[in-house]
Amino acid sequence: MQAFASNNLTVEKEELSSNSLPDFTSESYKDAYSRINAVVIEGEQEAYSNFLDLAKLIPEHADELVRLGKMEKKHMNGFCACGRNLAVKPDMPFAKTFFSKLHNNFLEAFKVGDTTTCLLIQCILIESFAISAYHVYIRVADPFAKRITEGVVQDEYLHLNYGQEWLKANLETVKKDLMRANKENLPLIKSMLDEVSNDAEVLHMDKEELMEEFMIAYQDSLLEIGLDNREIARMALAAVI
Ligand SMILES: [Fe+2]
Ligand SMILES: [Fe+2]
Repeated sequence: MQAFASNNLTVEKEELSSNSLPDFTSESYKDAYSRINAVVIEGEQEAYSNFLDLAKLIPEHADELVRLGKMEKKHMNGFCACGRNLAVKPDMPFAKTFFSKLHNNFLEAFKVGDTTTCLLIQCILIESFAISAYHVYIRVADPFAKRITEGVVQDEYLHLNYGQEWLKANLETVKKDLMRANKENLPLIKSMLDEVSNDAEVLHMDKEELMEEFMIAYQDSLLEIGLDNREIARMALAAVI
């Protein structure tokens, strides 16, 4: 009896989720997708070059970092294919502007050899952002993009993990820098999310859900790095102040 009830529940859930899928062929969907797809492509390109820069900052891990970077290039190609599959031309100028502040902060940190800030930006903030957005997107993506994104999201955990482990091993010496870098860069993630929230909504990606998923990935990684609850709360508050 119980099995029967739970089967019914599964059917209801499936119906609900297929009902909530957007019309991938509508003009409004394609218009919003041209910016979201571009942001994802640019994000992967950005991640690729950030990992190559990180390989220069941490030469003892250069091989691993280059390997992680190459995954990003593959992701980028996958998301280009998603755009082509829907006959959408990604709005790359929009995406370049979208990433410009975070991009400049990374480059400035790289130029002065500030590994902590570079790792926070790429491995913690960008990867948490990617993981959260991809999880939400998978639930409402077209079948082709869903398959691509499911493969990609697994890799992003490896990238998050790299930064996490390095920061954990060096926490005592980098904690202050980590806090400062977070205060400067976490607000950028929040405003980037605000900037694409209307387009994300057209793709049936809920803004609150995106923010929740981001905070989960971000706070989990801070916990893993070895920060205590008060430190994590203080860091997370930078997103709202
Ligand atoms: Fe990626
Ligand atoms: Fe990544």
